[in-house]
Amino acid sequence: MARKTINIAIDGYSACGKSTLAKDVARKLHYAYVDSGAMYRAVTLYAHQNGWISEQNGLDAAPLIAALDTIDIQFQFEEETQKSHTYLNGTDVEQDIRQPHVANYVSEVAALPEVRKKLVALQQKMGENKGVVMDGRDIGTVVFPQAELKIFLTANIEVRVQRRLNELYQKGVEIERASVAENLRKRDHIDSTRDQDPLRKAPDALTLDNSYLDKSEQQQWVLDRVYELTR
Ligand code: CDP
Repeated sequence: MARKTINIAIDGYSACGKSTLAKDVARKLHYAYVDSGAMYRAVTLYAHQNGWISEQNGLDAAPLIAALDTIDIQFQFEEETQKSHTYLNGTDVEQDIRQPHVANYVSEVAALPEVRKKLVALQQKMGENKGVVMDGRDIGTVVFPQAELKIFLTANIEVRVQRRLNELYQKGVEIERASVAENLRKRDHIDSTRDQDPLRKAPDALTLDNSYLDKSEQQQWVLDRVYELTR
């Protein structure tokens, strides 16, 4: 008998490995993976491109909010890289959205209620037919409060900084350890204290601390939960 198809929500702090876990689980189950953080990063990149973010004056939110309807975000699977890439108004921005100038402002952009409203609606649409693994900050609490499986992923800060440094290094981004640590702390703080949809563990989410788990161990832990739920 075919197994039941469910939605899986994975929330947690920055750089604790949510996207690695979500991608691995999606691949194994033949589900779609949606990186909700990439959508907030794409909106932040758009603000940059239009000059609404500057080092001197920070974020100018009003023109960004007024232009939200002109922002189209899509994901496309690339055969060449075997990865899902983020497209902003038709252009592949997968590399650009990972750069520090985007990371430095994304949490401010993501704290804007108008931005959240637009992206949450898009995300909910993507999960309408189930079979989605989505990672973010508010997936189990706001986007899919009815998701059959909710995971709250944690890892200690030293491990998270090292993971993000490795990831950026592989992408050719050179950055100081202290600067990565500062960015993660700052975003954790903004993400968990903002008024609109702050990062919270949903009451029925399962906590997984992956500080000392490798990729296959964390993947197996989630798959065991999925098999229990769908058998
Ligand atoms: O890769 P990392 O874990 O550092 O972050 P991300 O998942 O790419 O998300 C970037 C930022 O977008 C987060 O720090 C949040 O400010 C915001 N975000 C959010 O507010 N809600 C989500 N569902 C996903 C991301």
